[in-house]
Amino acid sequence: MNPRHFLTLNSLNRDELLSIINRASVLKKQTKEKNYETTLNNRVLGMIFEKSSTRTRVSFETGMAQLGGHAIYLSPTGSQIGRGEPIKDTSRVLSQMVDFIMLRTFEHERLEKFASYSDVPVINGLSDSFHPCQLLADLLTYYENRGSIEGKKVVWLGDGNNMCHSYMNAAKIFNFQLILSCPEGYDPDAVVLESTKEFVSIERNPQIAVENTDLVVTDVWTSMGQEKEQKQRLEQFVPYQVNTNLMECANEDALFMHCLPAHRGEEVSEAVLEGPQSVVWEEAGNRLHSQKALLEFLLN
Ligand code: CP
Ligand code: NVA
Repeated sequence: MNPRHFLTLNSLNRDELLSIINRASVLKKQTKEKNYETTLNNRVLGMIFEKSSTRTRVSFETGMAQLGGHAIYLSPTGSQIGRGEPIKDTSRVLSQMVDFIMLRTFEHERLEKFASYSDVPVINGLSDSFHPCQLLADLLTYYENRGSIEGKKVVWLGDGNNMCHSYMNAAKIFNFQLILSCPEGYDPDAVVLESTKEFVSIERNPQIAVENTDLVVTDVWTSMGQEKEQKQRLEQFVPYQVNTNLMECANEDALFMHCLPAHRGEEVSEAVLEGPQSVVWEEAGNRLHSQKALLEFLLN
């Protein structure tokens, strides 16, 4: 039987995603009480990082330990991947030794290829195109603070990047309205836009975009792998900074989210990031609980 992978949010259906979010809430409560269910006893997660990470690595590694299993960290420099061993070879070898594999990489096709050769579930720990694990944490954070996201208005500001694409998928699956406010030339991928167009629209003026919005989300202006474009991006994205003036155009009880790491004074001001509407620390902490629920789901 083919394993279930988690390469984009679309890998699972709405009910499955909701069951993961509900289970994450239970696991979160148990973790706070230091009460750990060892549902993944003796199970091993292989984690390959071809890009840097703080949250993704620590949340998966801690999550496996708390569930009674173990995680192995592989970096390009410390493994044969960086010396040119084809990923289809790495995939076939690792999938005989571990129970699931998380891959953080560049081209999404690399992840798909890795998964196509794997006998065990493969999890997208971020690709150039999608970051579905972050959406599990963001959705959990929204549900915990405000209840169902269905019918709500969400605004994405800045780059039409991997996080933006995952928000577009989420809008379609969870039936919310997503407004994208990106500078010209930085729109999301046309294929993702076409597949989500009933739920997603573009509004270039950030002040208009955030009117009556329930959730404001942004991300870095220069993602990993785009460092050469940094100077040009910094200039073009300035009007899209989430600051107090912009948040005042949103609903009074609107939440602010950011997957982190954040660049204060660029995509978000210090005042918003550290302000009362920001739930970014809770959002980051929720990576642990939502991914534990995902790991359980993929094995059971
Ligand atoms: N948000 C997120 O994925 O953070 P890391 O890059 O630190 O893993
Ligand atoms: N868009 C960012 C997300 C980091 C978690 C990047 O890809 O670098």
